Order: sequence, then structure tokens, then C-alpha cells
Amino acid sequence: MTDAEHLFTPRDFLRRAISRFNQADLVYGHGTTTALDEAAFIILEGLRLPIDQLEPFLDARLLPDERERLAGLIEARVTTRKPAPYLLNKAYVGGVPFFVDERVIVPRSFIGELLRSDALAGGEGSLIADAGAVTSVLDLCTGSGCLAILAAQLFPNARVDAVDLSPAALEVARRNVADFGMEDRVRLFEGDLFTPLKGKRYDFIITNPPYVGEAVMAALPPEFLAEPAMALDGGVDGFDIVRSILDGARAHLAPGGALICEIGEDRDILEAEYPDLPFLWLDTSESAGEVFFLPAEALGLKRPPRAPAGKAPRRSPAAAKGAGAASRSGAPRPRRR
Ligand SMILES: C[S@@+](CC[C@H](N)C(=O)[O-])C[C@H]1O[C@@H](n2cnc3c(N)ncnc32)[C@H](O)[C@@H]1O
Repeated sequence: MTDAEHLFTPRDFLRRAISRFNQADLVYGHGTTTALDEAAFIILEGLRLPIDQLEPFLDARLLPDERERLAGLIEARVTTRKPAPYLLNKAYVGGVPFFVDERVIVPRSFIGELLRSDALAGGEGSLIADAGAVTSVLDLCTGSGCLAILAAQLFPNARVDAVDLSPAALEVARRNVADFGMEDRVRLFEGDLFTPLKGKRYDFIITNPPYVGEAVMAALPPEFLAEPAMALDGGVDGFDIVRSILDGARAHLAPGGALICEIGEDRDILEAEYPDLPFLWLDTSESAGEVFFLPAEALGLKRPPRAPAGKAPRRSPAAAKGAGAASRSGAPRPRRR
């Protein structure tokens, strides 16, 4: 008899999946970190149930086709070693669902959480003065387009440009932009970093570039090998693309703007190489010191002049205020491997 014939409820499938995942020594890190969470995600998403509510459904009786589907997904997770989001064509960032397949990295950027938090929403404790004053955002290395779409949601008055070098990734991004009805707010560009943007300047540049160094690239487990190598590979120490972004940002930030960049664990390398840059390291619920915030002034761009009395000033969106999310310490944990 097959699993689908033996197992009847989500609880049965959960138990069976965890045993199989442990036996197969799977590796996690694509939205979940344990066998239990991975199994729960596969079961709930596989049944099109809310992914954060396992308990109410644990003992529900499943239909034969649902049992077949779950048995197939669990089998595929073990035999193909593909990350669960590829098997389900779905990944969640801050609770927001995006279509994914193997043309893009599975979204898991810490910047996603920042774009869903108060850290960039403007007002008290925020890194920026006024989210409504942000009119232009650039998402470099957009992949599935997830951060560009979240930025468009956070900054209601912003146009968002999103760039990727991979035409295949941009097809996925195009689908997500359409799914969110954002075609008039998010523009996609194919090319190398700033190249397709012809000198345009932005209030915000956000970026989660490839930043895996060659030693880690050489030892990636199968789950991570399933992702496009160009989404991970950052050269010898991982920072080839980060350096190009730092070098190019000055020419593409508007005065008063800011750069937000995820770089992984090795911030010491950057701090040693750019001793004059006052990186402000932002923490999230699952990371410490893996994302930096850099105001345009730090890159040598002057703040916009104050308006004469009686005239409306151009509000400066990215007035760094040293928000609660910021730190200069912390022990980052590995995550992109
Ligand atoms: C780590 S992924 C990030 C994707 C997405 N922003 C996210 O957070 O899920 C990096 C992306 O950068 C793209 N990329 C790599 N080199 C690039 C380059 N030189 N210019 C633009 N995009 C590049 C890859 O194709 C990949 O989609």
C-alpha cells in the first residue's frame, strides 16, 4: 500500500513527512528552518490552507485526491531535494505570497521584513521621515520582484524600477507584478546593475544582491544547488557585486535618499574596506547586522537645501534617525549558505 492509502489526516502526513525528512537529512533555509515547519508548510500550502494555522486542520479527513497530492509532494521533497517553494510555486515574504519557480532564488531577504515593518514606514522610530515623500525606488537584483512589489506597497507615491541581469528571472517578476496589479507602478529592466537606468536618481535603492563567496558556493547542499547560481555567486569573498553597488550608488541616489543592502554575515570585510562609510546595521527578527542602511550624504551627496520661508520644502524621505531596528553589533547567523 502507498502512503496515500495509509495516511488519512494532516496529522498523519505531518508525522510521516517529518520521519522521511529526518531520514533523508534534508537541508532547510527556504522559508523554514526545521523538518516540522517544512512539513507543515508543504501540507498547508499543498491543501491551499492558511500557512500559519495548522492546529484547526490537523484531524480533518482528507479527500483521496488531497492525500495523493500530499504524498506526492513529500516524496518529491525527499527525492528531488528541491526547496518546498519550488514544488508548490509559492513563497511568502512577510506573509505576502509570491509565485516562484526555478528561474528565481526562493525569496527570503531580510529586507522583506523591513519593508513590512515600522522601520521604513515613516514617523516615530522610523529610519525615514515620511514614507509618502518617497517618489522613486530602485530594486537592484530584483529576482522574483518581491522586494520591488513590497516597496511599492510601502511607499504609495513611489514608482519602482527593478533590475535583473537574468531574463528568466524577469519573466517571473513580470508575472508577480501582474498578479499584484502593479504594472503601472513597477517597471522591470534587464541589465547589469545600474546600466539600464541611464543616470536616473532614486530616493531609495534597495538591494539583495548575490553575496555568497566561492568557498561556500563550492559546498552548497542540493537544496541550494536547485537555485540559479547567478542569484548566489558573489565572487571570491562574496562581495564583487556589493562593491559595484557601493561604487555606483552615488550616481543614482537622490540627495536625501538612502541605500539599503543585504550582505550576509561578513560585514567585517566591508567595514575594513570602506572605513569612512558609516554603515548603519539593521536587525530583523532573524538577523543581526546583515543589512546596512547608508544615507546618500555618507556617499558625498549633499542634502537638498532648505526652502525659503513660506515655500513648501522638498521633504527629504530618508532622514536617518537611528531607529530601533538599527545596531552595530550582533552575531549574524548563516542563512544563504
Ligand atoms: C539574491 S537574488 C535576490 C532576488 C530578490 N531580490 C530576492 O530578494 O528574493 C539576486 C538576484 O540578482 C541577480 N543578478 C546577479 N547579478 C546581477 C547583475 N550584475 N545585475 C543585476 N542583477 C543581477 C540574479 O539574477 C538574482 O535574481
